[in-house]
Amino acid sequence: MIRFENVVKRFGDNTVLDDLNFEVAKGERVTLIGPSGSGKTTILRLVMTLEDLTDGYIYIDGQPFTYEPRGGRRVRQKQKDINKVSTKIGMVFQQFNLFPNMTVVENIVEAPIHVLGRGKEEAHARARELLELVGLSDKVDAHPTRLSGGQQQRVAIARALAMDPEILLLDEVTSALDPELVGEVLGVLRDVASSTDITMLIVTHEMQFAQEVSDRVMMFDHGRIIEDGEPGALFSAPREQRTRDFLQAVL
Ligand SMILES: Nc1ncnc2c1ncn2[C@@H]1O[C@H](COP(=O)(O)OP(=O)(O)OP(=O)(O)O)[C@@H](O)[C@H]1O
Ligand SMILES: [Mg+2]
Repeated sequence: MIRFENVVKRFGDNTVLDDLNFEVAKGERVTLIGPSGSGKTTILRLVMTLEDLTDGYIYIDGQPFTYEPRGGRRVRQKQKDINKVSTKIGMVFQQFNLFPNMTVVENIVEAPIHVLGRGKEEAHARARELLELVGLSDKVDAHPTRLSGGQQQRVAIARALAMDPEILLLDEVTSALDPELVGEVLGVLRDVASSTDITMLIVTHEMQFAQEVSDRVMMFDHGRIIEDGEPGALFSAPREQRTRDFLQAVL
């Protein structure tokens, strides 16, 4: 579903990802862990096309995405073609990024109506279903500023799901929350994971959650995968000293 092939990302002369290769299968849930600055957010932002690839290729569903090899050269795709694939990909950020001037339901129907061309009624009906899924049926017409952080983040999850993504990217979605609000957001994500077959790429420091929902964990350091395995094995018996040190620090 997602494949990185010889991916390089530089910011100026800082090489953040150097010849990165990995693959995430359709429906797979993969958690990225690793120290601050190891490139986790950059990977998600590349998939979301919020950053430009310096070199290499990303494949989505077997097709090159953003850049493609053509006649021995690496060519940027037309924005129209990139956008078509982008609608399959949703992301939830640490800082919820809701539109503050819109109500909860307006936040959720905005992209389905304006990007996918869904009808108003259909979009609103789906939004109400999703608000029920995230436990916020009573907040349809509320303004985000009146909601707790956990509630805002649940709206952000509903908003991402409203696009019917095939891929969902989650970047430390509970890190900005007060500890007592973390559980409600993780609970919603557990429901999403168990009730859909959305492919997920997750960055989190919640190791218990990572262990429950992920099929695989990739440990990054300096933009490289230093260990990759099934979560039970990787958390209980890491092969690499660097992974052991990292887990010791976060647990
Ligand atoms: N827009 C940017 N401009 C310049 N450098 C950047 C930019 N975004 C990220 N970087 C650099 O890329 C490296 C990787 O950053 P990234 O945010 O991907 O790390 P991370 O693993 O998500 O870290 P954290 O756990 O702190 O979120 C860092 O050295 C960072 O300073
Ligand atoms: Mg990050």
